[in-house]
Amino acid sequence: MNPSTPSPGLLAPALRLSGVSKSFGASHVLKDVSLTVAKGEIVCVLGPSGCGKSTLLRCINWLEEPDAGTVIVSGERMGARGAHRMSEKELARARSKIGMVFQHFALWPHLTVLQNVMEAPVHVHKRDRSEVRREAMELLERVGLEERRDHFPSQLSGGQKQRAAIARALAIKPDLLLFDEPTSALDPVLVGEVLGVMTGLAKDGITMVIVTHEMAFARKVASRIVFMHDGRIAEEAAPARFFDQPGTPEARAFLRHFQHGASAAPLHLVHEGVSP
Ligand SMILES: Nc1ncnc2c1ncn2[C@@H]1O[C@H](COP(=O)(O)OP(=O)(O)OP(=O)(O)O)[C@@H](O)[C@H]1O
Ligand SMILES: [Mg+2]
Repeated sequence: MNPSTPSPGLLAPALRLSGVSKSFGASHVLKDVSLTVAKGEIVCVLGPSGCGKSTLLRCINWLEEPDAGTVIVSGERMGARGAHRMSEKELARARSKIGMVFQHFALWPHLTVLQNVMEAPVHVHKRDRSEVRREAMELLERVGLEERRDHFPSQLSGGQKQRAAIARALAIKPDLLLFDEPTSALDPVLVGEVLGVMTGLAKDGITMVIVTHEMAFARKVASRIVFMHDGRIAEEAAPARFFDQPGTPEARAFLRHFQHGASAAPLHLVHEGVSP
């Protein structure tokens, strides 16, 4: 290839979803979802409980296979190679461009913090251990955990666990980081330290899709807000526009719940009259 010609992956958006649909039995959970995320963009996905946010993230990294539509990460289609389905091995390689941070951390309990961060680069990517160790130490410094590197997950606070999980997700040098409510299992005092690390990543230009109920954080760091309702993207807008002038009745109802210092209780509980 001509060295001056950038590869397709460099020019492609970090993520392109086209017409993604997913049902579980009779329940139609994602309905024709299309979304493009440019490199370096931070997209915050908001919406009431059950609207399909986690399913959307799980379809992006093919933990769930969509029934219809395409998912393209850095120019490469997930799940299919030409007319063929990807083998498990091909899928694992395609997934290695995507880092995922879950609500409940999902750290390996029998490995130390440092071993958790080194696990995928050494054992999945077969990279040189000493180089991986050096990078892992840098990542732990970045998330403020260098002194906890030899601790096991059970010896950490929730905020420390989540910061370790973020370091682990970064260790595979992903093109795209997905977060599914990374702070909703944390005590309120620990939320800030995790959001602080994520704000740092946003400043470093890492492409992120973040499902969150932290409205002030979303407003501050998002390039764009995606508001989901009943399996569809009901609204996509710049944060100021979304929060100040939501365009749909569903978004207005959702935001009303978060005003006046309301807690992040799932909206369906509020609808059912259950106090947070
Ligand atoms: N594996 C599954 N099997 C059957 N139904 C599922 C499955 N996963 C999700 N669902 C259903 O799909 C709908 C959307 O779920 P999803 O977890 O994507 O919602 P969500 O927006 O992430 O909600 P929350 O804010 O509570 O996390 C729900 O009705 C859920 O019960
Ligand atoms: Mg969810």
